[in-house]
Amino acid sequence: MLTRDRVAEVLTQAARDAGDALSFCRRWLGWEPHEGQQRWLVAPRRNTAVLVTGRRWGKSEVSAIQALHFAVTHPRSRQGIVSVTLDQARLSFDVALAICQREPLLGALVEKVKETPFPTLRLKTGSEITVRTAAREGIYLRGHKFHRCIVDEADYLSERLIDEVVRMTLADVGGQLVLISTPRARRGLVYRELQRGLAGDPTVYAQTGPTFENPNVRHDYIRSLRDHMTAAAWQREVEGVYADDDAAVFGWQHIQAAYEASTWALPEPPKKGRRYCQGVDLAKAEDWTVHTVLDATSRPHRLVHWERYQRMPWPAVAARIREVHQRYDCHQTLIDATGVGDAVLDEVRDVAQGFVFTRRSKVDLLTGLQVVLEKRELVFPFIRELVDELQGYAWDDDKLQTDCVMSLALAVWAAGPRTGVEFAPSVWG
Ligand SMILES: Nc1ncnc2c1ncn2[C@@H]1O[C@H](COP(=O)(O)OP(=O)(O)OP(=O)(O)O)[C@@H](O)[C@H]1O
Ligand SMILES: [Mg+2]
Repeated sequence: MLTRDRVAEVLTQAARDAGDALSFCRRWLGWEPHEGQQRWLVAPRRNTAVLVTGRRWGKSEVSAIQALHFAVTHPRSRQGIVSVTLDQARLSFDVALAICQREPLLGALVEKVKETPFPTLRLKTGSEITVRTAAREGIYLRGHKFHRCIVDEADYLSERLIDEVVRMTLADVGGQLVLISTPRARRGLVYRELQRGLAGDPTVYAQTGPTFENPNVRHDYIRSLRDHMTAAAWQREVEGVYADDDAAVFGWQHIQAAYEASTWALPEPPKKGRRYCQGVDLAKAEDWTVHTVLDATSRPHRLVHWERYQRMPWPAVAARIREVHQRYDCHQTLIDATGVGDAVLDEVRDVAQGFVFTRRSKVDLLTGLQVVLEKRELVFPFIRELVDELQGYAWDDDKLQTDCVMSLALAVWAAGPRTGVEFAPSVWG
């Protein structure tokens, strides 16, 4: 009779013979990569591999499968999947886990799955795939050694973190750095590595591609989003190319500096003696209601609570505003009092004040946010919706989704004027 160990041995041998990544996908997983994914999977191995594409291209899925292929064909290898938050890094890892659970052949190769302190998948080949966040200056990565390090949504990580922390994990064994991202900042490391690869640098493999290369997502739905994005955001998020964002309202380097400086998780419970402020942007029709609470005791202001939801009746929204206000004993709660906001304001007038949007007051409100970001007077934990909305914001915002930006701007406004900046009289007069 075959023992478990013997089965594992046979499987390990079979895995070694699994062949290239394409036959592995087809024969072992019954998974058919689209054309762009095929090119990525058969690309020559280089020290650095860069994949920059539109959203929903299939980056996370293909990198999960590639990591599995590497793990079965390279016994005792260690791979790290890294991203700006643990949740973001988990996406690929969870795909890999799901495949192992679905495919008996692969499942039989799994030795164990650990969840803490970090999600880790160990195969009987002795190979490991583990997940890390780059948060807190990369503290969870320091001292680790990897044969491959896959950085998902790499453009959210600063150049310094990739150079000083991520690359160090590969130094001992001359491991491979895999940078995967939707484009963000033209001045960043991913952009430069991509250019090097495209220019023919033999140490870098580079590939780009639009979302439409993935036949498994709804192309008509994606096209319908075009009206709600700036031209630059469309280029980045769908065409997968770096857009010129010098004219952006909120500069990428300031946004990045704001979330990189955070060390805490959300929500941070209220503490005695702190001065909190809440900003609320109310949903109109299909969009979101967003609450932002800042600890504005000193500068930089720190974001301590953030939530968003859709399709809640007004009385429930009002109750939520009141609840958050009381929980943090807010110095001020400021809500968007335009249109539908009026009705909500009526119910919470004892705790909240309304901000009336006019052309003038809106510019002042957003300029206030611009200033605190540029002066590094605001820090917040990484929240992808907020970060992306800040980057995609434009003055002409009629068709854009702006709830996160407005809620944050209202909270900053509620925190009070900086000296030297004049605010519209509507609230402070
Ligand atoms: N080869 C494939 N066959 C079937 N479905 C696929 C394939 N590749 C990707 N998909 C599906 O396409 C969708 C997007 O994939 P994935 O999440 O990997 O993309 P992504 O580029 O990482 O997206 P995001 O930019 O949102 O992070 C998912 O629903 C995924 O299951
Ligand atoms: Mg992804």
